[in-house]
Amino acid sequence: MIRIAPSVLAADFSRLTDQLAQAEAGGADWFHLDVMDGHFVPNITFGPLIVSAIRKVTRLPLDTHLMIASPDTFIRQFRDAGADHIIVHQEVCTNLHRTVVRIRELGAKPGVSINPDTPASTLSSIISDIDLVLMMSVYPGFGGQKFIEGTIDRIKEVRALIQRTGRDVRIEVDGGIDVTTGPTVVRAGADVLVAGTAIFRRPDIAQAVRDLRKSVEQISAE
Ligand code: DX5
Ligand code: ZN
Repeated sequence: MIRIAPSVLAADFSRLTDQLAQAEAGGADWFHLDVMDGHFVPNITFGPLIVSAIRKVTRLPLDTHLMIASPDTFIRQFRDAGADHIIVHQEVCTNLHRTVVRIRELGAKPGVSINPDTPASTLSSIISDIDLVLMMSVYPGFGGQKFIEGTIDRIKEVRALIQRTGRDVRIEVDGGIDVTTGPTVVRAGADVLVAGTAIFRRPDIAQAVRDLRKSVEQISAE
C-alpha cells in the first residue's frame, strides 16, 4: 500500500492544528516534519518543541526528516518529542551504522536520506539496518521546487538494493511530488509520497490528499 505523508513545511503554521486535521480527514498516513538547521541546508525551520506540539494533536506517525549537520546530538530530543521515524542524511553521518543503531535503541524507526547528487550505492552497506530510505528529488532546504527527473533511475537502483536484502524497506520520495510525478515514482518502486505544496497549498487540503492517492492507486511498481 502506498503511504501519503503530507509535509507540514507548506502548511500555515498559524492554523496548524486545523490543517493537520484536514489532511487526516483526507486520509494522510504519516506527517512529514522537515527539521532544518541553517548549516546542512540554507534554511531554518523548527526543532523538537514543534514536534512535541504536533504530537499532541495527531496520532499519525511523525516522519521526522533531520536536515541538520549534527543529528547524533539531537536524536534523543526528537524521540522524546514524539518522532516515530527518525531520518538522518547519509552526507553528514560519520558513523552511519552507529547512528542508525541508536535510533532503533530509542524505539524509533531509522531512515537514511540521500541528496540528488549522492550515489544510491552509498546505501548498500546500511540498507539491511534501516526501515526507510528517503530519496531527495530536489536539493533539500525549501518546499515548492521542481522534481528532478534523474530521481526515477535512482529509485530503481535503491529498489534493487532492497530486493537483495529480502527486507521490507520503504522508499520515500521527497520534493516536487504531485499527481503527475507521484505515479512516475511509484512505478519506479517508491511506496511513500511526501508532498508539501501539492497538499497544503491547495484550497481543499483533504481533497488534495485524496487526489494524490487516486493518482497512484492503480499503479504497481514495474
Ligand atoms: C525539502 C523538504 C521537503 C519539502 C517538500 O527540503 O525536505 O519535505 O517540504 O516540499 P514540496 O512537496 O513542496 O516539494
Ligand atoms: Zn523532507
